Amino acid sequence: MANTETTYLGLSLNSPLIVSSSGLNSSIERIKSYEANGAGAVVLKSLFEEQILNEVDKLSQYSDYTEAADYLKHYVTSNSLKEYIDFIKEAKAAVKIPVIASINCVSASQWVTFASRIQEAGADAIEINVFLLPTDAKKSANELEEIYYTLASKLTGLVSIPVSFKLGAHFTNPLNIIEQLYARKVKGVVLFNRFFEPDFDIENLKVIPAPIFSNAADIRNTLRWVGMTSHLVPKVDVSASTGVHDGESLIKMILAGASSVQVCSTIYKNGAGQIAAMLKTLSTWMDHKGYKKITDFKGAMNYGQLTDPTLYERSQFMKYYSNYE
Ligand SMILES: Cc1cc2nc3c(=O)[nH]c(=O)nc-3n(C[C@H](O)[C@H](O)[C@H](O)COP(=O)(O)O)c2cc1C
Repeated sequence: MANTETTYLGLSLNSPLIVSSSGLNSSIERIKSYEANGAGAVVLKSLFEEQILNEVDKLSQYSDYTEAADYLKHYVTSNSLKEYIDFIKEAKAAVKIPVIASINCVSASQWVTFASRIQEAGADAIEINVFLLPTDAKKSANELEEIYYTLASKLTGLVSIPVSFKLGAHFTNPLNIIEQLYARKVKGVVLFNRFFEPDFDIENLKVIPAPIFSNAADIRNTLRWVGMTSHLVPKVDVSASTGVHDGESLIKMILAGASSVQVCSTIYKNGAGQIAAMLKTLSTWMDHKGYKKITDFKGAMNYGQLTDPTLYERSQFMKYYSNYE
């Protein structure tokens, strides 16, 4: 019988499948059901810097006094945080699987102090989700990337639990970013986050949110970068995210070298039972292939293992397509 135990960020997981950061993990009952269905860990919904600042701004409208505004800012920040801290404690008491906290931030400022409170509450790791939408044409990519590095240095200097970064898919050189984060003691990266995107309603001339769930076809960009990172920056643990909807995709990500695989859209669509179904596909496939444990095949198809690694590269795709006339 296949053994699906694995390690991620130095944590022991019963299985490589993690329920990713979202509202799915904002109920203790649901977290328990994910554990019962075999999830290896959960990442709690992000504590949003933006969300806290918005709350502060709204409340500040009612006060013209700077001192009062400062007080409100402190009050709201500590209360949002208190709810989050209490939830971490509740989740830790309710399940045995690792509970990873998540912070969504746009700066390297006050967030850093939150991290030590999260560690004290018992979180097993912290996933940092930076969302910087560049709106200043004069700012260079280097200046923006520096925010990631400052954050990484500050956080890993402050907490002893593992820190991972959940990255967006659009860097000029993701491998260098990951290498730089590793140099600042970041243990893992989640490839990739999927952000809310705008769409247009052309009847009412309104900006509307695009569909929030991924499709199974979205797996491909994730697969390429998981496969490249696991070979080219091998000391960093990679957690695959975006487009993993079934057991076959879970297997592909581990073959590409993922230490863990995160799922969100498919759980929203199919419920907690999807975790057990995906893990069943994994263990049946492992038995069929004669793999006893995850490390027997982890990374077996990454960028370094293929006789023709250019299959990962775009130039090969162009050649491939040009044969179709
Ligand atoms: C409704 C919803 C809420 C989400 N909330 C968060 C969040 O709070 N923090 C975060 O890092 N990612 C969040 N995500 C992104 C997911 O964690 C995940 O990275 C993304 O959906 C891609 O995975 P998937 O293809 O399995 O859905 C959210 C996604 C959805 C659909």
